[in-house]
This record gives sequence, C-alpha cells and structure tokens, in this order.
Amino acid sequence: MFYPTLFRRWHGADAGLEQAMKNVQETTVLGAYDPAPDELRDRVILITGAGDGIGKAVSLACAGYGATVILLGRSVKKLEAVYDAIIEQGAPQPAIYPLDLQGATPEHYEQLADNVANEFQRLDGLLHNAARLGPLTPMDHFEPEEWTRVFQVNVHAPFVLTRACLPLLKGSKDARVVFTTAEQGRSGRAFWGAYAASKAAAEAMMEVLAEEHDSTPNLRINSVDPGPTRTRLRSIAYPAENPDAVKPPEDIADRYVYLLGFSAG
Ligand SMILES: NC(=O)c1ccc[n+]([C@@H]2O[C@H](COP(=O)([O-])OP(=O)(O)OC[C@H]3O[C@@H](n4cnc5c(N)ncnc54)[C@H](OP(=O)(O)O)[C@@H]3O)[C@@H](O)[C@H]2O)c1
Repeated sequence: MFYPTLFRRWHGADAGLEQAMKNVQETTVLGAYDPAPDELRDRVILITGAGDGIGKAVSLACAGYGATVILLGRSVKKLEAVYDAIIEQGAPQPAIYPLDLQGATPEHYEQLADNVANEFQRLDGLLHNAARLGPLTPMDHFEPEEWTRVFQVNVHAPFVLTRACLPLLKGSKDARVVFTTAEQGRSGRAFWGAYAASKAAAEAMMEVLAEEHDSTPNLRINSVDPGPTRTRLRSIAYPAENPDAVKPPEDIADRYVYLLGFSAG
C-alpha cells in the first residue's frame, strides 16, 4: 500500500540514497538529495535514543543542518557526549532530556511536552528511534515480562510520546513525525519475537496516524527502515558479523534529515 501525498514509507534503505528517493516518491525521480547547509534551520526536533548509534548520528546531522535538537535517552553520560559534540561543531545549543522509556508513565510524557512548550514554544520534528532488541529466541521460550519490556520501549513509548506531543506538533508550521521500522517487522522471521512484532506495530501506528492526519497539511507522518547499520543493537543481533561489512550510522543520517525537514511530502 502506498499513500502518495501524505506520508511515505522509506524502505529499501540499502539501495543507496538516490534509489531510496525514487522509492519514496515512486513516480517522481528526484535525483540525489543534497540538503542545504541550513536545511533544518530554526526547527526544533526531538530524537529518542539520541545517545548512541543511529540516534546519535542523526542528532549530530540535524544539529549540523541548523536544528535545535532535544536529545532524549536513558544515559545522561551518553547524551552529554552528544551534546558536547554538537556544541563543538558550532551548531545550535541542544537540550538533554533523560528519560527511561521503559519505566516512563503517561505523566512523564505530558511533563515532557509541557517542558518543550515552555522552553521552545513548539516542536517541528519527532523521531522515534530508541529500541529494545530483546532476546532472539523461539516464541515458546520468550519470557512474557521481557516481551512487555520490548513493547513498552518500541510501541507504547512512541504512542504515548506522540499523543502528548501532537498539540505542539500541530502548532508547528510544518511538522514531521518519523517512526523507525525494520525488515523483521514487515516480514516476521523465526526467533525475532517481540522485536519483529513491535516493529510491525510501530509501522501500523504510523499508517493509522498518517490517515488520521490526512487533512492536516502541516503534519506529515513517515517511517524509516535504516537497513543493516553498524550499531550496538546490530552487533548483538549479529555477533558473528564483521562490523565493517555494514554501513556506519553517519552514512544514512541524511535520509533522516530529509524526512525531518521540509523536503519530504
Ligand atoms: N542497526 C540496524 O541494523 C537497524 C536496522 C533496522 C532498524 N534499526 C532501528 O534503528 C533504531 C536505532 O537503533 P540502533 O541500531 O542505532 O541501536 P543502538 O545503537 O542500540 O541505539 C538504540 C538507542 O535506543 C536507546 N534505548 C534503548 N532502550 C531505551 C530506553 N528504555 N529508554 C530510552 N532509550 C532507550 C539506547 O539507549 P542506551 O544507549 O542507553 O542503550 C540507544 O540510544 C532502532 O529503532 C532499531 O530498531 C536498526
């Protein structure tokens, strides 16, 4: 299924940026996406799981293109390192928002939205990037408590966070919400258990939200599958893989910049 005007699902991420752009537009060949140096100037963007892996690379990239990035994660130390790197590159001062998505309650998300409103008066982008992998094991061995933890981080958190932030996002001139999916979510595979099921749920959530905001021209909802990327999560899922065989997160950061900026329809 493809929705030509209101949201795009960014699949086939490994085919290269130009090809991926063609997938996104399906009928319109755009050529390579080449963000302007100030592509995200004056945009306020909240990124979950910003302390490591893809979230870290995307946070640095968004800040580099002029966005004020709200770095959300559970490790203050990691968030501070990203904060320092952003300041070092001369980008707009980011904000740090420590939150463990696993234990967060709806009140925490409401408080977060209030804090963003007080500090920045708006929110232009929300990237749901944080994820819990959980064990790769047959369903009949999967501990129900761990299943719940994976869903808490990968599904429940994006739902409650989006819900809390929607009023702010609707107040933006041109807002973007991006969910993160994975190939296991579109085609369930043995042993991928809660991770696969939660990624399928996240993608369905994106589709539901996108249709519900069909008539909200200033709000676009997308999801992105980064494809195999050299991160901690990947190394746990594929311990025998040579890390050099997969691309580093920095290589795909522009795809997220595209989806969080004005270019993506
Ligand atoms: N890497 C791949 O090949 C690949 C492929 C397809 C999709 N993805 C998706 O890409 C996204 C980013 O993953 P990644 O590969 O960059 O993995 P990663 O390096 O392990 O990053 C995951 C991030 O999520 C954060 N996180 C996990 N549990 C959290 C919690 N309870 N509260 C707050 N933050 C939490 C982690 O924080 P800590 O640093 O504190 O653990 C980390 O910053 C995920 O949605 C993943 O499913 C990745």
